[in-house]
Amino acid sequence: MRPCAEEIGSRLGLPLGDDAPVLLRVTPERLELVQTGEGAPGPVWIDLGAVDTRSAGGARRDQPLSRAVGLRQGVRRVVDATAGLLHDAFLLASMGCEVVCVERSGVLHEMQRDALERGASDPALAAACARMTLVRADAREWLGGLGAAARPEAVYLDPMHPARRKSALVKKEMRLLRLLVGEDADAQELLAAAIGAATRRVVVKRPGHAPALAEGVVGSHKGRAVRYDVYSGRGGDV
Ligand SMILES: C[S@@+](CC[C@H](N)C(=O)[O-])C[C@H]1O[C@@H](n2cnc3c(N)ncnc32)[C@H](O)[C@@H]1O
Repeated sequence: MRPCAEEIGSRLGLPLGDDAPVLLRVTPERLELVQTGEGAPGPVWIDLGAVDTRSAGGARRDQPLSRAVGLRQGVRRVVDATAGLLHDAFLLASMGCEVVCVERSGVLHEMQRDALERGASDPALAAACARMTLVRADAREWLGGLGAAARPEAVYLDPMHPARRKSALVKKEMRLLRLLVGEDADAQELLAAAIGAATRRVVVKRPGHAPALAEGVVGSHKGRAVRYDVYSGRGGDV
């Protein structure tokens, strides 16, 4: 059963009320983020049913994301160290990967729990949801603490990109996420931790026009608006 607002508020140390710039709203159906103020867009919630897995359907193994992660090379154990709204994690799980989803924002972690609970009772989503495990942690430390047996084959990173000037072009989901968590200025440290933990490879999602997060890219896979840069993990067996 969905926890009530009081319970979530006390767990996360959030005040109850409706006068903050961003609210976490508990409705009978779901947890959602709401921006307040004039002209604010509608609520955002994690809707795994709306993630476009179909275009990955028949050609799934030729998708830039699956090529970058190394599905064809047998990679199946993946950590998504920037889980956010779970879209990419759900795509990876739909492709058959076991995905540990790490998120440091307590609010997003609660929304993720809520989304997986809803997904588990939807026959169209349940199988992929069962392959997803949630962890609330700063992935820089969490990855560093993994013992040899627990190390993933691949670590996937999608740190928050610097704001674009044409902000109207940025989806409302990303705008709200940015308001909530800010920019991931420590993304290079996260990449170093990911390289130290992955036995095979690290994948970094970048806007198509942006430079690489760091030197050492061993391969790049272009999507429509994004690019997936691949780095070798500690084992060097990409
Ligand atoms: C751009 S969003 C990721 C969106 C996600 N790929 C999706 O498909 O919804 C980046 C997320 O990574 C999280 N994050 C950034 N650095 C992190 C870290 N070191 N540990 C855990 N979470 C982190 C942020 O809090 C934010 O929720």
